[in-house]
Amino acid sequence: MKGIILAGGHGTRLYPMTVALSKQLLPVYDKPMIYYPLSILLLAGIKDILIISTPEDTPLYEKLLGDGKRIGINLTYKVQDTPRGLADAFILGADFIGDDSVCLILGDNIFFGQNMTLILQNAIKDLDGATVFGYPVKNPKAFGVVEFDENNNVLSIEEKPENPKSNFVVPGLYFYDNDVVEIAKNVKPSKRGEIEITAVNNEYLSRKKLKVSLLGRGIAWLDTGTPQGLLKAAEFVEAVQSTQGFYMSCIEEIAWRRGFITAEQLFELGQELKTTDYGKYIISIAEEAK
Ligand code: DAU
Repeated sequence: MKGIILAGGHGTRLYPMTVALSKQLLPVYDKPMIYYPLSILLLAGIKDILIISTPEDTPLYEKLLGDGKRIGINLTYKVQDTPRGLADAFILGADFIGDDSVCLILGDNIFFGQNMTLILQNAIKDLDGATVFGYPVKNPKAFGVVEFDENNNVLSIEEKPENPKSNFVVPGLYFYDNDVVEIAKNVKPSKRGEIEITAVNNEYLSRKKLKVSLLGRGIAWLDTGTPQGLLKAAEFVEAVQSTQGFYMSCIEEIAWRRGFITAEQLFELGQELKTTDYGKYIISIAEEAK
């Protein structure tokens, strides 16, 4: 399975923070936002990853993450000239995806919680068409909203509905078989002029190939769309790390736990960052492993 991180867009809702800098490069406590979705792909065991961003910001992601070899993965980059919509990821990524299946994660989506790795691995193992997730929120209007019948079968997904038919929304983490490339190419722009991921999901639904897997309260899905959301996300990360002693979304640690790099390589990566708590954490994990 291939992975795509969509990290473009205008980020206008966070102006002036994002006038000169891509939203997904903003810090969430002690690391750039994109580390969090990248860590989800690594937890899923995905090593071939395409990062899509704007013409101005793509070089910054390359500077931050390079070709990925230092953590044992393959990172490539693609420019999206204008934010045409989330389904554009599969059109821009068609060559990268090739004949494979693909996981798309939005660069501003942060997930954390019990069994996350198992949830990801099951989504890959059981994939038959498309698997997306349903997550309960208080303000469903801002998202893709799932409509269920009385037996909990999915009837539809509506993008930003005026009158949401449930409080379960679809977070920015999606698993698809190879049909997604052809489906995305045939999506017509919505009223807001975007080729919507929700249209892709509804096409899978009409083919009876959409699975909506419900996430419970054991999983945190953090909002980074407003200054307050960003602050709360940072506080969440700080609270988890300072109480548990474990780091959230330390990509070097996950790469080692997934077997992409050795403990010796992990130690070297920690040495490069040894003046920071982040680097000291990596060194401590590597030393325990030796
Ligand atoms: O976060 C989950 C929600 O993401 C879903 O529930 C919705 O169904 C889905 O449409 C999407 O809604 P948003 O309104 O949050 O999407 P937004 O336009 O903000 O784009 C999400 C991220 O993707 C954002 O960080 C910018 C980036 N992006 C967006 C577009 C439209 C791109 O990189 N390229 C694009 O063309």
